[in-house]
Amino acid sequence: MSSESEKVLIGVIGGSGLYHLDNLTIVKEVNPKTPWGFPSSPIIICALPSGTKVAFLARHGQGHTHAPSAVPARANIAALKSLGVRAILAFSAVGSLREEISPGSFVLPSQIIDRTKGVRPASFFEGTSIVAHAAFGDPFSNKLVHWLESRVQKALDAEGRGVQLFTGKTIVCMEGPQFSTRAESIMYRQWGGDLINMSVLPEAKLAREAELSYALVATATDYDSWRPQSEAVTAMEVFKTLQANADTSRHVCATILDELHEAVDNNAASEDADILCEEVGSMRF
Ligand code: ADE
Repeated sequence: MSSESEKVLIGVIGGSGLYHLDNLTIVKEVNPKTPWGFPSSPIIICALPSGTKVAFLARHGQGHTHAPSAVPARANIAALKSLGVRAILAFSAVGSLREEISPGSFVLPSQIIDRTKGVRPASFFEGTSIVAHAAFGDPFSNKLVHWLESRVQKALDAEGRGVQLFTGKTIVCMEGPQFSTRAESIMYRQWGGDLINMSVLPEAKLAREAELSYALVATATDYDSWRPQSEAVTAMEVFKTLQANADTSRHVCATILDELHEAVDNNAASEDADILCEEVGSMRF
């Protein structure tokens, strides 16, 4: 294993609008070939001013070349795992299904409703002789999310733009690439959905299978299509908030990543997944 300062324990996955981080020195770019192919884009290993290293991966590619349904999620998670990453902080633009979660708000969700099932490859074990059932009742790492709550709140307060943070919400992950109909958007609210995106799955499932702690920072860009008096969501509306949300995401990263690295190193912000298959250890990432 590499020396202390070489450890790369945190992987940051950037979503739409978040293609780089701030206040970091680029150490190198790596493009590991995994059994599931190459990641969405080369992974940038960057150093914080303290010397702590993090791995940054643009989920949709540096030039936004991968649509949500075509993101090579297995390669992305396997590539981060192969670098020694233990915890993933993923960012994603989301639509809001609740009046109080206005565009510009940040959310640490706790539950997911899967509307992508059967469409995207969602397991490392597909096509192998290994039968594995990962626990997924709590789809995000409780320990990591809990650790993040106060730190992200503090970072948002320090930024002073009045960005609100919500926790304990349910995100619906839909297939896309079209947005939802008004009827679907209303139905998701009735199901208990608070947010909607196209990217949290299968990423969260694969992170669990790879025994990586995973949390999502959801950044609201729009009100989707459930509000009777409002226009249904358009790509233009999403773009309007994307830049400000990306700036705030970079500020959050610059504020918390050093402390998060230390917490993950001390097992204070990450946990092992409860994989119900002894053979998981033999999977080659
Ligand atoms: N990403 C951002 N806004 C969205 C929405 N309204 N539906 C699905 N994905 C989104």
